Amino acid sequence: MRSCFLLAALPLVHGVRIIQSNDDGWAEINARTFFDVLDKAGQQIILSAPAENQSGTGSSDATPTTVDADGCEYSSCPGGSSPTGANATDPRLNYVNSYPVTSIKNGIDVTAPKLWNGAKPELAVTGPNVGSNIAIQAPFSGTIGAATYAAKTAKIPAIAFSGVTGDPTAWNAPVPLHSQVYADLALNITQTIVNSGAPYLPDNTFLNVNFPKAEAGGCDSASKFKYIFTRINTGLLSARDANWCGSTRLPWEADLILFRSSDCYVTISPGDANDKTTVNDAAVQLQIINKLKPILSCLP
Ligand SMILES: *[C@@H]1O[C@H](CO)[C@@H](O)[C@H](O)[C@H]1NC(C)=O
Ligand SMILES: *[C@@H]1O[C@H](CO)[C@@H](O)[C@H](O)[C@H]1NC(C)=O
Ligand SMILES: *[C@@H]1O[C@H](CO)[C@@H](O)[C@H](O)[C@H]1NC(C)=O
Repeated sequence: MRSCFLLAALPLVHGVRIIQSNDDGWAEINARTFFDVLDKAGQQIILSAPAENQSGTGSSDATPTTVDADGCEYSSCPGGSSPTGANATDPRLNYVNSYPVTSIKNGIDVTAPKLWNGAKPELAVTGPNVGSNIAIQAPFSGTIGAATYAAKTAKIPAIAFSGVTGDPTAWNAPVPLHSQVYADLALNITQTIVNSGAPYLPDNTFLNVNFPKAEAGGCDSASKFKYIFTRINTGLLSARDANWCGSTRLPWEADLILFRSSDCYVTISPGDANDKTTVNDAAVQLQIINKLKPILSCLP
């Protein structure tokens, strides 16, 4: 009887090893809320993110330095702290006083092997960013910079998440509605990719995921959203896309996020980690569509 109970209480899977980063800083509540839902879902998760807000720093990379006299963002570490550090009671929560790319690199090369007996992450997630990262915003985004570092340089499949709603908020404030909704949506996409089996994504690709507004009375719970497969740029002059939803031209993520926000569409675009634009190869697009099929919808 007792052993039956114990067995039932064990998680069904041990989860995959996931490294998380962002560009708003390790103490931003969007990232912490996503960390918590991944943890509760049974995934193995390590956060390694900048000590300060590094929004808009793209793919910059530099050796971490001692934290300045003001301390980490939202007073999440004292002034003069060491260049890298962890939460005093949870070693899975780590800051790196440098850029997003440096922080995910340190997480992949140093922190993860230390906590996982030498093993490296199997999947990388970044964000959810405070603010969208669509179309021409992509090259400047540290959230996408960290994801493309993982996919291209570290050869770890990566997903970048960004959400329209919200202002910078400290990790220890009450969890805002949008942070919870975005975390739930990001979890659903992450689990869908994990369930699709390894390799989780084709080589050198990442997913650029954007969430529309999430506000009370509107798109206010994960179940109200639909997931649409889109492009980062319009593709006017590029080869035809995969044959999907009765068309060979995928919708543009910016159209859905900027102009149809009240329709609750989450956009998922296949990203080329070499140049942060759309994967134009229809065969590669189709591989990704097949992985996401359990959750994808077509536009009406
Ligand atoms: C560190 O982790 C503890 C326990 O999870 C939490 O209460 C505290 O707020 C965290 N502090 C920071 C800066 O992450
Ligand atoms: C980070 O900086 C950007 C612009 O540099 C700003 O828009 C954003 O609100 C800041 N975020 C935080 C967490 O302070
Ligand atoms: C994702 O959400 C949909 C409903 O929106 C649900 O049917 C599905 O089971 C979820 N998938 C995962 C892997 O959580």
